[in-house]
Amino acid sequence: MQRLPRRALLIGGLGLGAGALSACSNRDPVTAGPSTIGPVASATPSSGQTVLEKTLSAQRTTIDLGGPKVATWAYGDTVPGPLIRANAGDFLRISVNNQLTAPTSIHWHGIRLRNAADGVPGMTQDPIQAGGNFTYEFTAPDPGTYFFHPHVGVQLDRGLYAPLIIDDPGEPGGYDTEWIVVLDDWVDGTGRTPDEVLAKLIEAGGSAPAASMGGMDHGSARGAQPWGDAGDVTYPYFVLNGKVPATPETFKAKVGQRVRLRIINAASDTIFTVALGGHRMTITHTDGHPVVPHEAAAFYIGMGERYDAVVTLRDGVFPLVAKPFGKTSGGQALGLIRTGAGTAPGADVSPVELRGEVLRASQLQPAESAKLPSKSPDTVEALSLEGSMQPYRWGINGAVFGKNDPLTVRAGQRMRINVVNMTMMTHPLHLHGHTFALPSGLRKDTVLLAPMEQLPIDLDADNAGDWAVHCHNIYHAEAGMMIALKYVS
Ligand code: C2O
Ligand code: CU
Repeated sequence: MQRLPRRALLIGGLGLGAGALSACSNRDPVTAGPSTIGPVASATPSSGQTVLEKTLSAQRTTIDLGGPKVATWAYGDTVPGPLIRANAGDFLRISVNNQLTAPTSIHWHGIRLRNAADGVPGMTQDPIQAGGNFTYEFTAPDPGTYFFHPHVGVQLDRGLYAPLIIDDPGEPGGYDTEWIVVLDDWVDGTGRTPDEVLAKLIEAGGSAPAASMGGMDHGSARGAQPWGDAGDVTYPYFVLNGKVPATPETFKAKVGQRVRLRIINAASDTIFTVALGGHRMTITHTDGHPVVPHEAAAFYIGMGERYDAVVTLRDGVFPLVAKPFGKTSGGQALGLIRTGAGTAPGADVSPVELRGEVLRASQLQPAESAKLPSKSPDTVEALSLEGSMQPYRWGINGAVFGKNDPLTVRAGQRMRINVVNMTMMTHPLHLHGHTFALPSGLRKDTVLLAPMEQLPIDLDADNAGDWAVHCHNIYHAEAGMMIALKYVS
């Protein structure tokens, strides 16, 4: 995918013209970091603001995963779909042309955008009907690594996803090249569609006893620590940038170059352990936000999470491995990094880096610029993740989405949400339209909760609207593991 050297990116950014630069003085300071967040911009670009226009078509297509050819749904005819890249503060106008036979929408995952562009049918818009069009207009205020995907049914588990990168025009850089790495678990077009997978899970779960929403029965312990049981779906393939490990994407660079990896987990049901053979990675960002640089041999990435890491490349050919957590079939996702001669490792290569300590988000510290100003909460809400495989039903606060009571907040409040995972399975909890701080201060929009884990998260209510909070296991979300966060006056 994107392999522009850093310099080319900067020139590209400046090439947008004087307007882009002069606009800086008229809008929120975008280089000062996410804690200096100002009001979210309206739908009309202020004069001088750079406008980025794109059209996406959601369509049926056949994709070559590097061997297996699959009939699927995608944005255009590539998986991942086309990269969208802008500078922080730019105004994006993205028209979506729905050529599918089903309704769809697009959610701009992690972007602190205006509510009307958030892409959640039933909360922020009507679904884009088959054959219909919709234009998303929003300012992307904060730099970082993001992605986009539909917010309808289990469409995320098709090929409908693509990276979204927001650059910081004032960023010091400190690397020579960057690569975008999108991970996915793949089933569509292999004899099952995601809709059929969901139907089977529900069928296998049996019928629901009346009102209970407890659920400790996901304890068959297929997985191991720290995430307990992991994953409901058996996938035939795991892909990195849309390729199976037999024919991996190969990234080329020179020995000694520093590379920024932007790693996105677009999977629906798979937590990955990521490692680069022969190297340690320095984690610099998660979910777009800078962290105190932290060296790790390997890290976990849950569905919907993003990690940026910088590595200084050694001489040879190295496997970039994403090993599905707690899954015993389907292999792994793989990419290759080549700086010199050497034989490429096989599809099932297992670098030693996978066998040591694996970093979790809770071990990271926020960069100074990413910290929320310290303040005690004005309001506290509880959020309990619940559910079971038998019946297959997942919910929040005692009921499935639509039957549970929305969380509420007033504009301007510091809100604490006391999250507790009452199940024996790990869930990546995602909040739309905001980021939250973990107890360490680390800023995230998606966080993994291990079985029975409790985690207070704090956020500033600075973006009015109705927002979704849900598990980013798309099968759990679709089975009800979602709740609304509403601004009230
Ligand atoms: Cu990427 Cu509501 O999700
Ligand atoms: Cu879940």
